[in-house]
Amino acid sequence: MHIENHPVLGKQLQDPVTIYFNNKPYKAYKQQTVAAALIANGEKKFGLSRKLIQSRGLFCSRGRCCSCYMTVDGEDHVRTCMKRVEEGMEIYPSFEDPEVRRDGDGD
Ligand code: FES
Repeated sequence: MHIENHPVLGKQLQDPVTIYFNNKPYKAYKQQTVAAALIANGEKKFGLSRKLIQSRGLFCSRGRCCSCYMTVDGEDHVRTCMKRVEEGMEIYPSFEDPEVRRDGDGD
């Protein structure tokens, strides 16, 4: 759910864009971060931890913990809580972008 008209902050979300998460289109706004846009669209699982294979998602929301790593437009390990959305952006959970080649399992 997007808060399009905040009672204190007013209308801050005014430039709609379409982003693609796992090839599925979602509505977002230019002023949002990738993580905020995904959460507003009901997506909470951003990937899996490498070692324990546990779900990862938004944690600190300020670029400190790396829990929100995802693959954005072919770039691996993007902190999505710090990256703003752009029109047509393609986002995949960590380790699921078919175009990103990885050498090894990261352990
Ligand atoms: S949620 Fe901690 S770095 Fe993004």
